[in-house]
This record gives sequence, C-alpha cells and structure tokens, in this order.
Amino acid sequence: MDFVTLVVVAVLAFVLVAVFIMRQKAEYGAQLQQLQPKKPKQFGIYTTEEVAKHNKPDDAWIIAQHKETKEYRVYDITEYVPEHPGGESILRNIGGDATEGFHGPQHPVTTFLLADEYCIGKLAEGEEVKFRSKR
Ligand code: HEM
Repeated sequence: MDFVTLVVVAVLAFVLVAVFIMRQKAEYGAQLQQLQPKKPKQFGIYTTEEVAKHNKPDDAWIIAQHKETKEYRVYDITEYVPEHPGGESILRNIGGDATEGFHGPQHPVTTFLLADEYCIGKLAEGEEVKFRSKR
C-alpha cells in the first residue's frame, strides 16, 4: 500500500468513527430530551429484604449509594433493562447492591440524570447493604 492510499484509508476510518460517535451522542441527547416526569413520583423507604424480592429481569430493583449524599437509593430499572447500552450487565446485582457497577467508568455523567427517572426511594436508616443478591 502506498502512502497516499494509507492516508485515504486513515481519513475514511476517522470519518466513520466520528460519524458513529456523533450518532450515538445524538441518540442519547434525544433520550435525555424525553426525560419529562411522566407522573408525580411517590418515593418510598425500603428494607434490603424488600429490594431482594425484585431480583428478576422482568422485575428488577437495584440499590446504589449516592456519591454526595451517601444515601442508598433504590431504583426500579425493570423498564430500562432492554435499553441499557451496557446490555445485561445491568442485571448483575439486581435485588442487591449495584453501587460499584453503577459508578463505574463506563457511565457518562448523564447516566445519573437518566437514572433519576428510575429512582423509587431509598433504604431505611441502618440497613446493611454490603450484600449481594442470591441470584
Ligand atoms: C449512556 C448510558 C449508559 C451506558 C453507555 C452504560 C454502559 C454500561 C456498561 C458497559 C456496563 C458494564 C460494565 C461492566 O461490565 O463492568 C454497565 C453496567 C451497569 N449499568 Fe450502565 N450504562 C448506561 C446507563 C445506565 C443507567 C441509566 C443505569 C441505571 C438506571 C445503569 C446502571 C448500570 C448498573 C447498575 C451496572 C452494573 C451492574 C453491576 O455490576 O451490578 N446504566 N453500564
């Protein structure tokens, strides 16, 4: 391959990657735009025992500790499972504490805005969270 061909291939590859990234961003932006509160939320206070009952892909709750407030929030992610860009990895700790994965480097800051949509409340004071669901 001569130098000119190499440059052309490199430029094409760059354009392809750039287009891909821009499309992903646009899609995600559109998703965020739809983030209007669908219905007034009623937040609840839950025990880990209650959360642990929701450990199936079609009934999936997780606990994740909020970085600033340190409170343990409960999320009902059932409707989000099929949309999760990280696929089924989101199911790894359903019914339990998913804090580590939730705050992983794969998640852009906007994830936490999106996640707010699925927050249904928090854990009761004094609940032990260092447990894994028994899936
Ligand atoms: C742009 C949006 C998102 C992207 C690109 C994304 C991507 C990913 C990827 C790649 C993983 C797998 C990490 C691994 O295998 O170690 C993951 C895990 C996870 N994601 Fe997302 N995600 C997104 C949004 C969300 C949202 C909105 C939520 C919550 C409603 C969420 C909750 C989780 C959880 C809880 C895990 C880890 C489960 C565990 O390890 O227990 N993600 N995500």
